[in-house]
Amino acid sequence: MARVALVSYNPGEEPGADRDLPVLRAALEDAGAEAAVAYWDDPEVDWAGFDLAVIRSTWDYSWRVAEFVAWAERCAGLTRLANPAGVVRWNTDKRYVGDLAAAGVPVVPTRYLAPGDPVELPEDQEFVVKPTAGAGARYAARYTPRERETAIRQLARMHAEGLTAMVQPYVKNIDVRGERALQFFGGRLLHASRKGAVLEPGTPFDGDKVPHPRLAAWEPTPAELAVAERALAAVPDGSDAVLYARVDLVDGDDGEPRVMELELVEPNLFLWLHPRSLPVVVEAILKAAAL
Ligand SMILES: Nc1ncnc2c1ncn2[C@@H]1O[C@H](COP(=O)(O)OP(=O)(O)O)[C@@H](O)[C@H]1O
Ligand SMILES: [Mg+2]
Repeated sequence: MARVALVSYNPGEEPGADRDLPVLRAALEDAGAEAAVAYWDDPEVDWAGFDLAVIRSTWDYSWRVAEFVAWAERCAGLTRLANPAGVVRWNTDKRYVGDLAAAGVPVVPTRYLAPGDPVELPEDQEFVVKPTAGAGARYAARYTPRERETAIRQLARMHAEGLTAMVQPYVKNIDVRGERALQFFGGRLLHASRKGAVLEPGTPFDGDKVPHPRLAAWEPTPAELAVAERALAAVPDGSDAVLYARVDLVDGDDGEPRVMELELVEPNLFLWLHPRSLPVVVEAILKAAAL
């Protein structure tokens, strides 16, 4: 009997926000596995007692990255971890967007500003400032060139917290065509979703955002599939090293898809939107647990 840990975060007093978790756990148990939800930072968990630990919704990691990566490395020494610790280390730092660009993958043009770097901001177009360690649009905001002083205050605050910033042009097509998330599981396309633009003008970087506005199922185009597959091929250790992946795409000014984010740590699967994907996910997890 396969023993699988579904790795999440401790929601404290709040109800757990991962809607996939109870559904996935029940489906694994129906398939004959032993499935448990485990919090990544719970010192009581006996990771060696599982055949596989699948990172699912460790949504508090982005402000504890070093601790999280250290956990992943420790866990991977005790059991099979998906995705593997090396992939987690690489993917928790969005400087990987630069690695994808260097590998020839079309990405949203990105400049990195680490603490101490001279501040250079676009003067002729709207732009986005966001952290290299982030999720759920935390600390992300958009600015027109006239809002430069506000953007500089965001950068100062991020740098004081030791964060490296990413500066990108605001991709205008997102307002019309949205952002598409292509999810892969067990080496093949699982399903895709589309969501609306998250960054409303004038929302402060530390203000609340709706992370998945107007989420809906989406049929990926051949161009989207091609870019997603190129992104996966650029993963260090190869795409075979990953059990699951989500590739987020937006359309550039030329209308062609570009990678906004390659999520290999804790992608939300939105199984409630894609119920037919559940058996595919269960099968891939059981296969990985049996390796
Ligand atoms: N360059 C950009 N142009 C337009 N919108 C952006 C840009 N960067 C981020 N956004 C918006 O902010 C959201 C969060 O940014 P993202 O890079 O996906 O980080 P994360 O999801 O890890 O917080 C995106 O889903 C998108 O709506
Ligand atoms: Mg995102």
